[in-house]
Amino acid sequence: MIIPVILAGGSGTRLWPLSRHLTPKQFVDIASLDEGKTLFQSTFARLQGVPELAPAIVICNEEHRFLAAEQIRQLSLSGQVSPETTLLLEPAGRNTAPALTLAALVAMQMQQLQAERSRETPEISTAETGTPVLLVLPADHVIADTAEFQRCVAIASQQAQQGRLVTFGIEPTYAETGYGYIQAGAALVEGNALQVARFVEKPDQQTAEQYLASGDYLWNSGMFMMRADVWLRELATYAPQIDEACRQACSTVAHDGDFVRVNAEAFSQSPSDSIDYAVMEHTRQAAVVPMAAGWSDLGAWSALWQAGQGKDSQNNMVCGDVYLDEVRDSYVHAGSRLVAAIGIDNAVIVETADAVLVTNKDNTQAVKKVVQWLESQQ
Ligand code: GDD
Ligand code: MG
Repeated sequence: MIIPVILAGGSGTRLWPLSRHLTPKQFVDIASLDEGKTLFQSTFARLQGVPELAPAIVICNEEHRFLAAEQIRQLSLSGQVSPETTLLLEPAGRNTAPALTLAALVAMQMQQLQAERSRETPEISTAETGTPVLLVLPADHVIADTAEFQRCVAIASQQAQQGRLVTFGIEPTYAETGYGYIQAGAALVEGNALQVARFVEKPDQQTAEQYLASGDYLWNSGMFMMRADVWLRELATYAPQIDEACRQACSTVAHDGDFVRVNAEAFSQSPSDSIDYAVMEHTRQAAVVPMAAGWSDLGAWSALWQAGQGKDSQNNMVCGDVYLDEVRDSYVHAGSRLVAAIGIDNAVIVETADAVLVTNKDNTQAVKKVVQWLESQQ
């Protein structure tokens, strides 16, 4: 049984002003990339057809519960999401390691319930009651080739069942410092899955350049596959305080209509850390499945420009009512008014009803500072 765990608690501040505190990027149809679906909805849609898939566990911030619930409801009308999807709410953001741990503990509880039920109802198959394999998916990625993604998930699933923590490796194209880097080791399945010799999260610029030049490293996509019990065991070894706080938090799990909540006081005691720093840099059980599926992390406007399909003849990515003259290699988004630009290159212009961003593609990482400044004004 595979349970998708959809991580949807990020704030997406580098995509301001389209990504906002109350409507972060994963819940927005950010650039008409997938037939009117939000990034969150596309994450479900690309799972259609994966065998042995159980209903997903979505984990997001308490503040975004109605957004997430409504977007799940829309997809469930067309049968693309099970109405039994679990919406697990974090009382406060503690980064991805605690988020995944809550999901793993809830998945284990659900599996125990199933196992008890199957003892009473023998017609439930054992496949439904085995230890769940978690397919961990960030809710804000673009993957162009769904078939290749699903092929890699099938390989990863085999490795995960054997007790490995599986990553999906992307061929790097530049020295990005915001990603994890994976050095592959010996092959586990010829050409398909390899051991991880080394995992380094967010190296500095110089190290990232060395890794790129060596040709020996892959980017970590941020998606993972592992058995819930294996994650909990590795976490208890390398991040025992997270393990302890999350177990306490899950000792009282409350189901309230559409939502599942844990003990807020206990969860607030958890250190804040990511899956990558807390476990992946330390575990000896990691594997990597190389994936060439047109993956992109839409972290910043420059990445959105890069990922955008249908650029014009001057390499501009344009959304909405836009007039351009002598403009090249730019991203121009008109949300509510006409936007005209003349004689500029490499620009990013994003217009919405209440805010306008003007920068260039080399500065888009700094957009988060606008959000920090806005928060300091409140
Ligand atoms: N539920 C929940 N709670 N989700 C969260 C939280 C949280 O506290 N924090 C982040 N997320 C979600 C984000 O919405 C995103 O979908 C995903 O978890 C990953 O978090 P990011 O904050 O975007 O991570 P990153 O981009 O810095 O790094 C990760 O992804 C890179 C590739 O995109 C790492 O796994 C890197 O190694 C990787 O290269
Ligand atoms: Mg990210």
